[in-house]
Amino acid sequence: MEVKAAPLGFKNASTGPRSRIRSRHISLRAEPLRHYFFAVSPDPILSLDLPGITKVKSGKVREVFDLGDSLLFVATDRISAFDCVMPNGIPRKGEVLTQISHFWFDQTESWLPNHRLLKTEDPLPDRLKPFASILDGRSMIVRKTQPLPIECVVRGYLSGSGWKEYRKSGSVCGIALPPGLVESSELPEPIFTPATKAESGHDENISFEQAVQLTGPAVAQQARDLSLRLYRFARDYARTRGIIIADTKFEFGLVDGQLILIDEVLTPDSSRFWPAEHYAAGRGQPSFDKQFVRDHLETLDWDKTPPAPALPADIVAKTQAKYLEAYRLLTGKPL
Ligand SMILES: Nc1ncnc2c1ncn2[C@@H]1O[C@H](COP(=O)(O)OP(=O)(O)O)[C@@H](O)[C@H]1O
Ligand SMILES: [Mg+2]
Repeated sequence: MEVKAAPLGFKNASTGPRSRIRSRHISLRAEPLRHYFFAVSPDPILSLDLPGITKVKSGKVREVFDLGDSLLFVATDRISAFDCVMPNGIPRKGEVLTQISHFWFDQTESWLPNHRLLKTEDPLPDRLKPFASILDGRSMIVRKTQPLPIECVVRGYLSGSGWKEYRKSGSVCGIALPPGLVESSELPEPIFTPATKAESGHDENISFEQAVQLTGPAVAQQARDLSLRLYRFARDYARTRGIIIADTKFEFGLVDGQLILIDEVLTPDSSRFWPAEHYAAGRGQPSFDKQFVRDHLETLDWDKTPPAPALPADIVAKTQAKYLEAYRLLTGKPL
């Protein structure tokens, strides 16, 4: 369904509660100018086009545009569960994800260069100003890089595919671990478990040696060391704020032969966030952000293949509250 954005005034001129579900596809093509100035609306943004600006990719959650000498990432409000994108979204989720990445870039840029060209408080370039009401808060302008062909996964706890593999073989991605660990155990040390970047389907875990073959030894070692350092830093910080970052995925890109941190960073979409207060090893953990969605979907007799059923309003509202809470806990201020 394509719903035109309401020609409202500005930020606080919303027409209803934030939790109301109605999706917007934002296409500004051939729209009169007044349509550019709608409010930050309660409706989730599920997709968007920016006339005159080339979209280069539509990911599960983000839309990527080519600005010539830079890239524009826009996080939509799409949410996926059980590997399926839900038909409706979580209003403001894209804003939360983008602002969490900004937060980590702020925390780490003194020792790790990243792809960010504009900070969250910087004004948009003139050509993007007509789209400010959509882009504000949920977009990031970044340097174009040559991304490494590996995903830099770091695991600090035993969960998901890592737990499955450990149960079978006592190792994770070929890294031997001590016996006696249980599901969700914290590992003695975080481990680097790279994966290939599959365009479709699942990324495949690879050994460090295979990563070396793909990137060369110096780059692979640097990516591993930076990933581990970054994870440790974020894990320790988040723990003091009530969030366990069980594992996460980083990406690095090359610019003029230098490795920089790219993509989204330490968000609930690229990591497993667990509520620290409910943590106990020996069982699976609730997800900080997606548990209401998962629990709800488990009550249906949906076979977890697309199309996914729409999420009811109360699940959307509770999930939105979790995303906003994650932001507030991490940064110490509300969004
Ligand atoms: N600075 C950058 N330069 C080049 N490519 C980048 C940069 N930052 C991120 N990317 C790439 O953008 C893509 C984002 O797509 P994807 O992860 O599929 O989106 P989503 O997270 O919405 O699923 C990734 O392939 C990532 O490698
Ligand atoms: Mg991604």
